[in-house]
Amino acid sequence: MRILILCHAFNSLAQRLYVELAERGHALSLEFDVNDAVTREAVGLFGPDLVLAPFLKRAIPEDVWRRVPCLVVHPGPLGDRGPSALDWAVLEGATSNQDWRWGVTLLQANGEMDAGDVWRSVPFAMREAPKASLYRHEVTEAAVAAVLDALERFAAGGRPTPFDPIDQAALGRPRPAMRQADRAIDWSRDTTAAVLRKIRSGDGMPGVRDRIAGREVSLFDAHPAHGLRGEPGALVARCEGAVCRATVDGAVWIGHLKPWDSEISLKLPAELVLGEEAARLPEAQGHRDLWYEEADGVGWLHFPFYNGAMSARQCERLLAAYQAACRRDVRVIVLAGGDDFWSNGIHLNVIEAAGSPADESWRTINAIDDLARAILTTGDRLTVAALAGNAGAGGVFLALAADRVWTRDGVVLNPHYKGMGNLYGSEYWTYVLPRRAGDEHARAVTQARLPMGTAEAHRLGLVDDRFGCGVADFRAEVRDRARALAADPALPLLLDDKRRRRDADEAVKPLAAYRAEELERMRLNFYGFDPSYHVARYNFVFKVPKSRTPLYLARHRG
Ligand code: COA
Repeated sequence: MRILILCHAFNSLAQRLYVELAERGHALSLEFDVNDAVTREAVGLFGPDLVLAPFLKRAIPEDVWRRVPCLVVHPGPLGDRGPSALDWAVLEGATSNQDWRWGVTLLQANGEMDAGDVWRSVPFAMREAPKASLYRHEVTEAAVAAVLDALERFAAGGRPTPFDPIDQAALGRPRPAMRQADRAIDWSRDTTAAVLRKIRSGDGMPGVRDRIAGREVSLFDAHPAHGLRGEPGALVARCEGAVCRATVDGAVWIGHLKPWDSEISLKLPAELVLGEEAARLPEAQGHRDLWYEEADGVGWLHFPFYNGAMSARQCERLLAAYQAACRRDVRVIVLAGGDDFWSNGIHLNVIEAAGSPADESWRTINAIDDLARAILTTGDRLTVAALAGNAGAGGVFLALAADRVWTRDGVVLNPHYKGMGNLYGSEYWTYVLPRRAGDEHARAVTQARLPMGTAEAHRLGLVDDRFGCGVADFRAEVRDRARALAADPALPLLLDDKRRRRDADEAVKPLAAYRAEELERMRLNFYGFDPSYHVARYNFVFKVPKSRTPLYLARHRG
């Protein structure tokens, strides 16, 4: 089928649908919803059988939906309408004695927003989590199921059915756009649970506006702080970039803030934003963005860094934790990343906010390279990169440093740097990528700018295995497989073989030479006369909207 994807941005859901549909052989093209004339033109040029809209902020023009069936993904259950569907679901939480359920509905566009005939509605159980995390997991999986089902029925001549308000599954209702006032925190009254719900309802976007230590900020990345108390609203502690703020019945960690009263209005680690105010706070334990656990001869490193972005400091901490794991009596080390992201490479926001972004880029890339080298040169343990969440750019190549790369089935990879102003990239990618995929595939992977699903990544050799339909499933199977590896009597032979191959590779070309060559090119990206990387980073972190769809996506314009 010829399918035109129409979206506000090529976000994670649009990317996932793109790879699922491409994998099934559909002819795809994509247009950003810039204005009605562009949409009309795209439909005219591509001649799609249908338009799929996974993420739109505006209505589709009438002449378009009258001409071609337009299927719109709405992140709410049957009957729900409005632009803040998930925000309301998270904010209002579970009502007592009720299963906390939500859903995704695939509608056929008509003259009214979110009110078209229904192709499919897929329910799911809610979880206590930020909106963006629910979107990346439950909403995405439900949307994929709804779209695949609808396409099958569409191909067989099926039709959508009008919405029936007395349908048992009609859990939703029309809701207005959520305002800041709807989620504003009253620190003198709100409990920890209420504060968490409010912050999570706007995390990643748009955050909850608040004042903290006299600063105008939005709050993100909140977690319960166990065992800490204080005057409600007061800052009581700090820990690894986060600050802890007391509520009426406990306290919360706040990991990230976006300041509104500074020139650099970016989401950043809270300690960085608050500076002196944070430095004065007592240090406490409990904000967990990096931890180690161990069972059955397997060491696990969890590093759910916010948005998968890794600052120099985070890379250094992770390296220290990795080295400590290597000193333990374990035979297998699982690099587990986080549930939402495994890694998206160097922390572009922290770099942007630094006095010298070029120097901070240099410092961070060297820190992530040190980590990659430590993984690559571990001769006496087997390492597994276990990707429950997506990975992008340097994050993908860091994963390839491990001996085994396992991914959850629905993970999307973006194994390229080109989109960031033609950044050359490091993380020893010139060694690890051809080692796995061969030279020809390696060239194709780095030249591409498209997202890659796990099926393709497996075919190309980037991924050794893909399994598990959800995070819990995936983690459980990783546990079983890692335990089996650790107990495998053949493990010493595997490790001998690993050391032999590494020594042979080192003799052909030392790791230091790969790194020096990559960094020579990166030095030009950071300090050279071409500012493309700095411009692309600025546009990325400040979310400068794209004025047109790149040609590698808008195939109809090629
Ligand atoms: N540094 C800082 N923030 C990052 C980041 C990075 N390397 N990668 C992603 N993020 C942030 C995004 O800004 C976004 O922030 P938000 O919470 O304010 O919305 C959030 O993570 C989610 O990213 P988003 O781009 O919306 O996710 P996606 O699934 O649509 O796209 C990527 C995933 C990886 C394609 C995209 O995030 C990307 O290109 N990241 C940059 C990768 C990179 O170039 N790294 C540097 C070179 S190693």
